[in-house]
Amino acid sequence: MSNLVFITTSLDGFIARKNGGIDWLNDIPNSENSDFGFNEFMKRIDAIVLGRNTFDLVLTFNYYPYIKQVFVLSSTLKSIPERLKSKVEILTGEPNKIVELLINRGYKNLYIDGGKTIQGFLRQELLDKIIITRIPILLGSSILLFNNLTNEQKFEHIETVVFNNALVRSHYKKLLK
Ligand SMILES: NC(=O)c1ccc[n+]([C@@H]2O[C@H](COP(=O)([O-])OP(=O)(O)OC[C@H]3O[C@@H](n4cnc5c(N)ncnc54)[C@H](OP(=O)(O)O)[C@@H]3O)[C@@H](O)[C@H]2O)c1
Repeated sequence: MSNLVFITTSLDGFIARKNGGIDWLNDIPNSENSDFGFNEFMKRIDAIVLGRNTFDLVLTFNYYPYIKQVFVLSSTLKSIPERLKSKVEILTGEPNKIVELLINRGYKNLYIDGGKTIQGFLRQELLDKIIITRIPILLGSSILLFNNLTNEQKFEHIETVVFNNALVRSHYKKLLK
């Protein structure tokens, strides 16, 4: 059982522009034929836990990117678009309760996504693996991946892969205390 993060950041640690935009993620030379490991990663997980802001952004895509069951965390979202009702469910609550609920439903490996959502899981020390791909751009200031964490946590470096001589994807595993 693992809670995993697979996310892309700017060199200065941001996950989106101030307006939430992620267009810079696609600005990689010669990237047409690679998903940089995303589909392989998707095969390893059982369900996706998304923050509501990330889900809002996904709804603006002209395709739906997930092949696994999605749980959107939100205390404000009231409904899911009709076409996604069998694929997406709204949940609310503390991250440890969300994990407990999903384990009881038979989901073992959870992909946790969205800045505030990841930070909430980190605060409760619930993340086991973090895979970060860095893109060589400085965004200046916007939505940070890691913010206001008060509890120190140690991770072991597993591997780093360089793509297109531009992207650097590093895989870290939480060290047990
Ligand atoms: N670079 C990348 O790879 C990447 C990946 C993912 C997302 N992004 C970007 O990151 C931005 C979104 O990140 P974000 O930090 O704004 O937020 P987020 O984590 O996507 O969404 C935050 C919202 O999720 C809900 N939430 C989180 N934890 C909850 C809990 N335990 N219980 C109930 N609700 C909970 C709350 O929604 P309510 O206010 O409705 O209660 C909260 O306001 C988007 O712009 C997206 O494009 C980038």
